[in-house]
Amino acid sequence: MSLEPHEYYEALAQLAWQVELGADEAIGAVGVDRYVEKLTPKSQKKTVQKQSDTVTVAARTAGGETKRLAAACNDLEGLRETIEAFDGCELKRGARTTVFADGNPAARVMVIGEAPGRDEDREGKPFIGKSGQLLDKMLASIGLNRNAEDAEQAVYITNVLPWRPPQNRDPLDEEMAMMKPFLMRHIELAKPDVLLLVGNPPNQTLLNTEQGVTRLRGKWHSIAGIPALPIFHPAYLLRVPAQKRLAWADLLMLKAKLEES
Ligand code: URA
Repeated sequence: MSLEPHEYYEALAQLAWQVELGADEAIGAVGVDRYVEKLTPKSQKKTVQKQSDTVTVAARTAGGETKRLAAACNDLEGLRETIEAFDGCELKRGARTTVFADGNPAARVMVIGEAPGRDEDREGKPFIGKSGQLLDKMLASIGLNRNAEDAEQAVYITNVLPWRPPQNRDPLDEEMAMMKPFLMRHIELAKPDVLLLVGNPPNQTLLNTEQGVTRLRGKWHSIAGIPALPIFHPAYLLRVPAQKRLAWADLLMLKAKLEES
């Protein structure tokens, strides 16, 4: 498409204006013309609604498929490849990378977060943005480190979802349900001694509860026989630093558990 010079400068000015408003990334490959959208007749809108219902149903039925696929994975590399090849989750379409895991798979501690954010989506690794840096500091305070070779000091990190949700929205129940068999298989294959459940989504999906981390933290739970400790998400601690005191208490519980077994 060739542009007249004035069209080029108009487009550039519009882009600069959007950047100034805080729109710092494109979330779709194709632009949405909101002027046309306003004129869409009601009947067409219904079709759009129906399509998204279909996606939801597809998401639910894919739960069976992910169970079968996950069960067929015999090692972590196989699981990574299976998840990377899985096309049943809409989130994959909007993501740049599949974020599988980071750290040492032999670690005694497996950390499970929510979903990749912008930085993680770019780099293909979990928890590397601002909240990831705080998580690293929290773990370091009890002698744990994702780069450690010794399983005693190491951590292995993954998320409930391997793809970034648009605009970092919370994971949907059906997305978590669809991906849960992969997560359970991930835990089975990594065989950690202890799970650290970071923020609400891993608790909701793995403990099957509506309760938030504020209610769940401070005590040990069990997932497939593995002790699991809910802890505040570092993104929350960055917003509410006063809660770091409770997170510190939880980290000490984790340390004590590792020392006792
Ligand atoms: N928040 C998460 O829960 N996981 C990440 O990987 C990054 C931010």
